[in-house]
Amino acid sequence: MPRPPFIHSYARPGGRGVGEANRRLLAEELPKWEIALESGEQRAEGKKNIPALCSLFSALSLEIGFGSGEHLLHRAKQNPDALHIGCEVYVHGLLACLKELKKDPLANVRIFTEDGRLLLQNLPEGALSRVYILFPDPWPKNRHHKRRIINPETLALLHRAMHPGAELHLATDHPHYAAWMLAHLANHSGFEWLAECAEDWHNPPEGHCTTRYEQKRKAGSAPGYFQFRRV
Ligand SMILES: C[S@@+](CC[C@H](N)C(=O)[O-])C[C@H]1O[C@@H](n2cnc3c(N)ncnc32)[C@H](O)[C@@H]1O
Repeated sequence: MPRPPFIHSYARPGGRGVGEANRRLLAEELPKWEIALESGEQRAEGKKNIPALCSLFSALSLEIGFGSGEHLLHRAKQNPDALHIGCEVYVHGLLACLKELKKDPLANVRIFTEDGRLLLQNLPEGALSRVYILFPDPWPKNRHHKRRIINPETLALLHRAMHPGAELHLATDHPHYAAWMLAHLANHSGFEWLAECAEDWHNPPEGHCTTRYEQKRKAGSAPGYFQFRRV
């Protein structure tokens, strides 16, 4: 499959210091949860491809950049009828999520360990009913803005993969990134902001769970939560 030349939206795709125990955890647990691209690029035998998996659930939810997976697993428990796919490239985040899944397996969770935009490109059109991109790396320096995952290219991928009425949930504690997100979404005619009043963005959406990362960030700027509907 041709690899798209995405500019990296993440800082540390790998992660140092994966010891023997974690290597074993990856080898034993990841094949149980990892999804493959439809092309058949499968790392474990017998895995269902994505359309086949989707057909077993009433809805498909995607989280890009799940960090340690707290929000992903929380949403999956909240909504067992939907398949929840989480994407994370940072190996220590992945390991934290796998540890939880080992303790408390959830049949409606799958993990994609590459760039979430690659998965977006390969999902059937209109497959997604919910997408979360929460506290993405803010890339504050001007010369790094091109790395921000919210950009016209990602919005086009999301628009294709989401069905009409599907929701896109964004959050950031970085005021300039919040303005950037709103400006980019406002420039795309295929999404409408669901805010009902000026204060809406201060409040997390229903069913939200605060991750450790978010908790730490709260000491800085107030987080903003933005929900959009794919029209
Ligand atoms: C700042 S952390 C936030 C983690 C989590 N969303 C939370 O709120 O706790 C952003 C995460 O997104 C991941 N990430 C960034 N770009 C990504 C991409 N294109 N595909 C998958 N993961 C990505 C990074 O590896 C990082 O772990």
